[in-house]
Amino acid sequence: MGVMNLDQPQLLSKIAMGDGHGEASSYFDGWKAYDKDPFHPSKNPHGVIQMGLAENQLTADMVQNWIMSNPEASICTLEGVHNFKQMANFQDYHGLPEFRNAVAKFMSRTRGNRVTFDPERIVMSGGATGAHEATAFCLADRGEALLVPTPYYPGFDRDLRWRTGVKLVPVICESSNNFKLTKQALEEAYEKAKEDNIRFKGLLITNPSNPLGTVMDRNTLRTVITFINEKRIHLISDEIYAATVFSHPSFISIAEIIEHDTDIECDRNLVHIVYSLSKDMGFPGFRVGIIYSYNDTVVDCTRKMSSFGLVSTQTQYLIAKMLSDDDFVEKFLPESAKRLAQRYRVFTGGLIKVGIKCLQSNGGLFVWMDLRGLLKNATFESEIELWRVIIHEVKINVSPGVSFHCSEPGWFRVCYANMDDRDVQIALQRIRSFVTQNNKEAMGSDKNSKPYWHSNLRLSLKPRRFDDIMMSPHSPIPQSPLVKATT
Ligand SMILES: Cc1ncc(COP(=O)(O)O)c(C=O)c1O
Repeated sequence: MGVMNLDQPQLLSKIAMGDGHGEASSYFDGWKAYDKDPFHPSKNPHGVIQMGLAENQLTADMVQNWIMSNPEASICTLEGVHNFKQMANFQDYHGLPEFRNAVAKFMSRTRGNRVTFDPERIVMSGGATGAHEATAFCLADRGEALLVPTPYYPGFDRDLRWRTGVKLVPVICESSNNFKLTKQALEEAYEKAKEDNIRFKGLLITNPSNPLGTVMDRNTLRTVITFINEKRIHLISDEIYAATVFSHPSFISIAEIIEHDTDIECDRNLVHIVYSLSKDMGFPGFRVGIIYSYNDTVVDCTRKMSSFGLVSTQTQYLIAKMLSDDDFVEKFLPESAKRLAQRYRVFTGGLIKVGIKCLQSNGGLFVWMDLRGLLKNATFESEIELWRVIIHEVKINVSPGVSFHCSEPGWFRVCYANMDDRDVQIALQRIRSFVTQNNKEAMGSDKNSKPYWHSNLRLSLKPRRFDDIMMSPHSPIPQSPLVKATT
């Protein structure tokens, strides 16, 4: 690499020279620890177990079986190759009509068929990641802001903010009411930002929530609709975990509120849904993201923008065939929910046995684990300190709450659907040993003693800025689990 001459005007853009993506942050120590020492049951049994990855691997066998029974769905098989030329040439950014029809139908199905989606409004993008950015480009200009309830998916800082220059302003939600979004929290964030002369263009919600795994109830969704209509701002509803809900209460899409709750005023032009097949189907590698906007101009503009991140026709073709197979979808969705419920029960049951509680949840691919009792002090420094011990001593990569902009230290997101049953048991065993050892130490010493792990720490901890701590999927680092780490 050449040396930059400081007398010359800047040769590269601010984006190229800046670290808005967040990858250069010290946070990645955790992923690096996993990268250097990844767990493998036989080849590296003492390695780091990856529980920072919101990936759904529990139904891969069902998809694989479907593919084997439907070889014509791929254009690279004897049975499907006759369509190869046509598909390889197709490049219309509206997408294959059969793909849009199948996705619209699937979106209805994952919302209990209580609402319908118009295939003409289905816009594709490179995952929900691309969908968020395109939507942000359409709703706000550089320097304008979107409100986002905390804790929220750290990738939003990159997806909606990095290249658009849009700001994200947190709406503080707290553990005292299980992090539920309230009208008061919305009003407070809105008023505070107005005092700071920030121009608001919208509110971004995630339902079901990453990292909480909870669903928003009807009243909260009605509050949200009323709020955005009163303030005349947009609503982006990220619903990419729609079909991961495995027990009551069931998931309610924002689409249901605007279609059925006609007693509240709603200008549909303000509402936009982001969806993807990364979680519900377990296809993050296919990069199938969807923008579903009720606003014609946004549909039109995001569709033009989708040229920057189209889903390949080969993938569209396969997905169209798979999601149009009603028998398959009808079996797949309940079975997926059943397997997630079972995994949730096993994992949270194992944690409860050693006295670790999680926020009660019924969706997503993770739990929101409460380790406040293990913090040395109620600070984010202590949280990061404990997190480093969990990675380096317990050898499990989990994600600290601060990276989700959580307002209270001591919460950690732990993913449980990216591994098999045996690895879950190994992770639980490690957690058990850690907590047992910790308890023994605490019992054998006076009240003022520090938790066990402090005496055992061989880590040098540097103070860190919180906005420095950012997780990022799709990292370009070759061979790095960071690519997967933060979805
Ligand atoms: C809430 C949320 N939105 C968006 C994304 C990005 O999804 P995709 O892989 O479809 O880009 C994720 C990934 O974890 C997520 O959790």
